[in-house]
Amino acid sequence: MKFHILTLFPEMVLQGLMSSITGRAVREQKIEVEAIDIRDYTKEKHRKVDDYPYGGGAGMLIQAQPVYDAYQSVSEKLSPSHTRRVIYVTPQGSPFSQQMAEEFSAYDDLIFLCGHYEGIDERVLEEVVTDHVSIGDYVMTGGELAAMVMVDVIARLVPGVLHNQESARTESFQGPLLEYPQYSRPEIWHGKAVPEVLLSGDAGRVRAWRLEESVKRTRERRPDLYAQYQELVECRERMKKQKRLHADMLGLLERGCGQRPCRCGERILLYGRDGKTMFYTSMGAERESEFWENLPEETLAGVRRVFLHQQASVEPFQKRTGMRLIGRYRNWIYTKKEKLPVRGLYRQDAETEDGFLIRELANGQYGAYVQETLAGRAGIDEEGGLWTECFWTDLPEGEKVPVEKALWTFLSNLALEQGFTPYARLSAENAVSQNRLEELGFYGSKTELYCMEF
Ligand code: ADE
Repeated sequence: MKFHILTLFPEMVLQGLMSSITGRAVREQKIEVEAIDIRDYTKEKHRKVDDYPYGGGAGMLIQAQPVYDAYQSVSEKLSPSHTRRVIYVTPQGSPFSQQMAEEFSAYDDLIFLCGHYEGIDERVLEEVVTDHVSIGDYVMTGGELAAMVMVDVIARLVPGVLHNQESARTESFQGPLLEYPQYSRPEIWHGKAVPEVLLSGDAGRVRAWRLEESVKRTRERRPDLYAQYQELVECRERMKKQKRLHADMLGLLERGCGQRPCRCGERILLYGRDGKTMFYTSMGAERESEFWENLPEETLAGVRRVFLHQQASVEPFQKRTGMRLIGRYRNWIYTKKEKLPVRGLYRQDAETEDGFLIRELANGQYGAYVQETLAGRAGIDEEGGLWTECFWTDLPEGEKVPVEKALWTFLSNLALEQGFTPYARLSAENAVSQNRLEELGFYGSKTELYCMEF
């Protein structure tokens, strides 16, 4: 990911971003940051880039020509296969958010345009800008600090920018709740003791206390987020009545990455992290046709894939959206808290003789090796679902079992260690893997999920 910042103050931007974690990420080549001085592209004498606005009014505007030429100098260097967005940072933009940052983090190149004075000539904005974004309802002297805020938030989502220790905290983000209070040594400071529960060594009690504190803090400081949280809790309680069927939707909520939950009576709509996958359950509500016919268009904007949790929704959904049924699935869930036994299945070091060697691959996936041959791959997807894939096609079916079993076991234990309920969504036709999960103690949903795409 490369950030290009068009600005009148390149030294300010570089000084800020070359420090701390973003600076480290640049040095470790996880991200690139370049600041382009708009003034270098002016054709005026004395490096002038601004002029009076037509129609009068206070202040000066940055002219179109130097901004356009500065933009072109960046654009010309970008590979045509790279994806890009051009973001004008302005108080007149849409509010910047974590969700927006997630969306931007998927691009190869992000070009930020920082305004100054009273702004920039509208004509160049019309030609180059894809997004107008603000960091809040206040006016700063220029866009540089706003661009730095956005770069910082987006950069920390780029794989490898945060080291494990730093990323652990975000993974336990509890949906819309604020962070709980934290304490470090000494145990007593200014006569105030650290809450007793944090010294108890009981991970379950600590987790429950932290959640309670987060809820309390959110209720007091951010009633807007608290209302969202209550809605989420309500959705979760309703879906829990059919745990297996809703394992994917519950998994999203558990990981705090289910976006924009929306409840309409018994019905629940939920979106994945990038907003492109939508999940829907009607929980037996009637009049599906009427529901889909009347659903506002913005609910479906940007959605590319939908998992319907009841067959009765398929036809009315297809009629409304034109998406087609491309696959039937079942959710599989492991509800016990104890880890699965691993003896003879896999190992993560090279010291013992038995089992497959499981290694982390570069892309966050895991590989099972037999004498340096990759026999299978596995991972936990963006939505929290476990998946595996075995390659040993020249082995008889019976001998593939241990590879797959080792991978499912490894992933389930990993999810449990992270405090999540292991679940997987398997094609309804994949009897082999379904049997494998059943043997390991997973339960499958009785009814199927319907995957719809254009
Ligand atoms: N430039 C000046 N104020 C700003 C703000 N609040 N957000 C983004 N850019 C800005």
